[in-house]
Parts: sequence; structure tokens; C-alpha cells
Amino acid sequence: MTDLKLNNRVGIPLHLLNRHALILGETGTGKSSTILTMTERLADAGVPVFLVDAKGDMGIIRRTAIDVSLLDPYRNLGANVGAMGASLISRALGLSPAQSGAVELAFSFDRFSGPVPLATLDDLHKLIHKVRLDESAGGFITAATHGVIMRQSLQLRDSFVGKATFDVAELLEPSRVSILKGDRIMMQPCAYSALILFLLEQLYSRLPEVGDQPKPRLVFIIDEAHLVFRDLAPAMLQRLEQIVRLIRSKGVALVFASQAATDIPGTIRDQCAHKLAHANRYGVGRPLVETLAPDGRWRSPGIIRVDRPRCQTEPHSEPVDIALRALDGVSEPGALLVPPIRERPSCANVAASGGTIENVLSVAMAILTLWGINTLTIDVSFPTFALAIFGIAMLFLRSLRK
Ligand SMILES: Nc1ncnc2c1ncn2[C@@H]1O[C@H](COP(=O)(O)OP(=O)(O)OP(=O)(O)O)[C@@H](O)[C@H]1O
Ligand SMILES: [Mg+2]
Repeated sequence: MTDLKLNNRVGIPLHLLNRHALILGETGTGKSSTILTMTERLADAGVPVFLVDAKGDMGIIRRTAIDVSLLDPYRNLGANVGAMGASLISRALGLSPAQSGAVELAFSFDRFSGPVPLATLDDLHKLIHKVRLDESAGGFITAATHGVIMRQSLQLRDSFVGKATFDVAELLEPSRVSILKGDRIMMQPCAYSALILFLLEQLYSRLPEVGDQPKPRLVFIIDEAHLVFRDLAPAMLQRLEQIVRLIRSKGVALVFASQAATDIPGTIRDQCAHKLAHANRYGVGRPLVETLAPDGRWRSPGIIRVDRPRCQTEPHSEPVDIALRALDGVSEPGALLVPPIRERPSCANVAASGGTIENVLSVAMAILTLWGINTLTIDVSFPTFALAIFGIAMLFLRSLRK
């Protein structure tokens, strides 16, 4: 059995990753970097990954992953109206329960009155218009409701809604990293939520049961997961809970990333066996990890330092970066995909910068980290040991200055 290594000591058993995971942490605590590290290692192990690029900082993975596909909900990712169904269309349009009821009625009218093509948003309007004029529908759809649906649709005119349906089989190619370009669609949280729910529905309905596998068929990482759940109608939440429960046996591992655990409904949180809780008080890139041992028992390796992803640390040539910018349609050199890399303190640069107490402590931390020892847990449980290391660090610093 192999592990998805988070660092050289701690990993998540690959065959248990489909028990789903949570990646939590305030902004800037290293969630995205952790996601990139996991993605690189999953791709190395032949596992396909779907991830959402909420802030434009995930494209950097193209430096190290070989098969990367960019999915843009305004270009090459679509969902036709019929395939989405009444509830997801209503979610995408951000309709109230009463307005959603009107859309449900229109869809059922379609079922009773013979096949009406229902692919684009225009088709939806024609249908609603027809139902409004039909006496058997009893005037259930008011002009005001129709107006709201028209208005909301206008905002989604260029988006994935009403376009040719994306084939989720494309996500399943071994080692493929599919990146959903999320910056624009997230400005319309209801549409983003509907898109994620649609992709999950499609995966759920298309994939056969496979039972336990040595590694997942797909790891589906949902960043800004709170947007998916916000104001979700009870029936949709119930459906999502069911999908989360059952998609496991179809070999799909879900990873929910968000700022706080409370962003994720308890019934879904309880189904996540692995938890990486980042926090400012632990330090950047140092989550508190709870996971499962290979035999399925719960275990907590404590606060660990997750390896930085290679795509953030390995130097790359100018031609590679130019090629990446060109793929992104970014021409300004200043708008490079690569976020600044904040380095951990190293012995040499700390010594060079002066001899304050803070620097000495940093050197102690750097030495402990070099030894692979988790400084935060040591501080709390072995104060004497920490003091001894502090002394060594001071001696070391003095010798560097000589
Ligand atoms: N292990 C690490 N060591 C040092 N710096 C790190 C580490 N992990 C991430 N960083 C740096 O910390 C900064 C924030 O990281 P990141 O973007 O992953 O945080 P985030 O939790 O995703 O934030 P947000 O919620 O705003 O998206 C980045 O500049 C990143 O390069
Ligand atoms: Mg992030």
C-alpha cells in the first residue's frame, strides 16, 4: 500500500483517500500550497486530479505536471439546460424557492407535452413562455417570475449554462490535472455552486461501482467550498450528502478546502476521514493532521510541515514561463502566474541579518526543522529539550560570526 506523502514522514494511505478530506485554514496559511503538493504527488502516482483555481495561483502546476487541462466555464466547459435539470438551473440562476417551483413546473410541462428541445437558455425561455400561456398550467408562472428568470439568465449568457455538456470522462485520464478556471465564475457564487454540483452529479451517475481500490480513480478538490453550500436548499443538500456518501465506492475522493470547519455542513464534515487544519498559530504550511492508518484506524501525526510543491520551489527558465503566460493569455510580464515564494528562515540568512533574540529562535527552529522535528509540538511537550536546542543555536550563531 502506498501513501500520498505530505512530507518524508507523514502520508495519507492512497487506498483510503476516497474516505474524503478537509483542508482548512485562515487565509494565507498555506492551503493552496498543500493542495499543489498533493496534486503533484497524486499525478506522479497516476491519479487524475480535478481542482479549482479560485485565485489564479494554481496554474503554476503546469511547471511540473505533464498533462494539464484548463477548463474555463466561459469557454470550454458547458452544461446544457436539460442535463442540469430544474433544481440545478434554479440554483445557477439564484432563484427563490417559489421561482424554483415555477421552473420545476415548466420542466414537468415539458415532460407532459412532448419533447421540446431544452438545451440553451433561449430554449428555457421559450418553454417558460409557453407554460405561462398554457391554461392547464393555471397561471402558476407569473410575469414577475418570468422577468426574474430572464434577468438572471442575462448574467449567465456567456457562461457554461446552456452550452454543450462537458464529458466528465475527460477528467479521468491517468495523471491528468484538470484545472477549473474559477476567478470569474466565483463572482456568481450560485452559478459556481451549480457547476460543482453538476460535475459531481455527472460523475456519480456515469461512474460504475468499483468498491475499494488501491488508489482513487479521481481526486476532486473543491476550493472555496463554503460557496457550494451557502443557502443550499434542503433537498439539494440532502442529495449532495447522498452523493458524498456513495461516490466513495465509485473510486472518487472528495477534498473540501475552506477557511473554517463550520463552512462545511456537519453531515458532510462527518464523512471526511482526513483533516489538514492549517492555522496562523501553527505557522504557514504546517497543518494539524488527522488521518487514517493503512488498517483504517484513526491517527493523528500532529502538526507537520507539508513539503512545498516542486512547482513553487524548482527554478524555471524564462522560456517556460513565457510559454505558460502565453497559454494563460497573459501578456504582461508582471502578471506572471508564479506567486512570490516566502522562504522559511535558513541558518545563513538569519545569521547575516543580525543577532536579535527573534533571529536566534529562528535559527533554533531551522535546526529542528532540518532534523525533521516538529518544533511546535516539541515546544509544548519538551520545554527542557527546546531550551537545550536554543543553547546550541546560540553557540552555532556565535561560531558563524567569528
Ligand atoms: N510550507 C511553506 N513554507 C513557506 N511558505 C509557504 C509555505 N506554504 C505556503 N507558503 C507561502 O505562504 C503564502 C500563502 O500560501 P497559500 O496561498 O497556499 O495560502 P492559502 O491558505 O491558500 O491562502 P488563501 O486562503 O488566501 O488562498 C504564499 O506566498 C506561499 O508561497
Ligand atoms: Mg488559496
